Amino acid sequence: MILAPSTIDLFAFGEESLLDLVSGQASPFFAYDLGAARERFRRLRAALPQRVRLAYAVKSNPGLPLLETFSAEGAWFDCASAGEVSTVLAAGGTGAGMVFAGPAKSERDLQAALFAGARVQVDGIEDVARLHTLHEGAEPLPVSVRVNPAQGVSEVATIIGGGGPSAFGVDEEVVEEFLTEAARYERVRISGVQVFAASNELDAGRLLANHRTALRIARHVQAVLGRELDLVDLGGGLGVRYDVTQPSLDVRTLGAGLGRVLEENAWFTGELLLEPGRWLSAPTGVYCARVVRTKDSRGERFVMLEGGINHLLRPLMTGQPFPTLALRPGVGVIGSAGSGAAGGALVRTTLAGPLCTSLDRLGTGDLPADLRPGDVVVFGQAGAYAATQAMTHFLSHPAPEQVWVG
Ligand SMILES: Cc1ncc(COP(=O)(O)O)c(C=O)c1O
Repeated sequence: MILAPSTIDLFAFGEESLLDLVSGQASPFFAYDLGAARERFRRLRAALPQRVRLAYAVKSNPGLPLLETFSAEGAWFDCASAGEVSTVLAAGGTGAGMVFAGPAKSERDLQAALFAGARVQVDGIEDVARLHTLHEGAEPLPVSVRVNPAQGVSEVATIIGGGGPSAFGVDEEVVEEFLTEAARYERVRISGVQVFAASNELDAGRLLANHRTALRIARHVQAVLGRELDLVDLGGGLGVRYDVTQPSLDVRTLGAGLGRVLEENAWFTGELLLEPGRWLSAPTGVYCARVVRTKDSRGERFVMLEGGINHLLRPLMTGQPFPTLALRPGVGVIGSAGSGAAGGALVRTTLAGPLCTSLDRLGTGDLPADLRPGDVVVFGQAGAYAATQAMTHFLSHPAPEQVWVG
């Protein structure tokens, strides 16, 4: 079966390549297409106003070959731990092209960010106080303040922000108090603003509404400080579809809209950053796991795989499964769920993993009735928030292999 063109962006590889991968590779494994990553970066770069810098959000997929690929394309990086900082430096990134965020930065994190020369985004006065102590340079350390807007948009509000109470940043309502307090720490200087309150957003208009909010907040911060900001960071949140029935985010509409937002905000002449993670990395990867057994239990069909939430946790956290294909080694694609590729008779199926907990579910969808041991289930869009977001050590199964192609 040939994948329908509309499904291609859900799976990084075509049918032939998937067959080659599963025949040459022990299951379960992740495979990533670096050519697709490069193409993705260039597509987004071309769609956005020249002035907007792209800082790849490392947390979405910190694989060294991926970071090297983005680094060679001129990406900046958004890091959130000392570990991410060292991977970026190993991949050829530099502190001058790095921002550092996180709601609970340890001293080790702050030291790594300072050592690299990254721009730290402070989430509260505690960050300012600790940087004041740690910073050794003669000039005040420029930092950005992350502001939690009073209103935001989010498809997955449980994952990140979206207005309301949040562990992230300084609440917009108290930002003036924060700035007054921060001014007491003369070795630290608030010079930028970061606002990020969206996640997996597929609607360019809603992202642009957030960007307008970010610039409105930045303008207010600049007015309160009485000096020009040098950096405004609009965060990430550019979404990808996990099902063919969802629309794709139109990055050209986003780029054109951002151009208009910048025209409306001619007061700001500093660096402007976007921090996309998922949009750049999700479509570059697949996760493949062999079927171990199938079972009908009281009217429900289960297919048990070699890997579960120890390798893919996102469906359990968000309730949104990854799109799947059923692949028969030596034959080809025999059916799919959420990918639009039609096959033989399909039956409602719950995918379960090998862990001894009923939480170990990877989603429910329509998969071929004759799916059997030895077949492989391929999960698309698995290049982001997958391999490193899972419960790898639970039950001590081996970590999945990661295969880099291209
Ligand atoms: C500070 C920061 N920037 C960027 C991102 C990337 O978000 P996305 O992958 O949705 O683009 C995240 C995600 O959690 C984040 O916390």
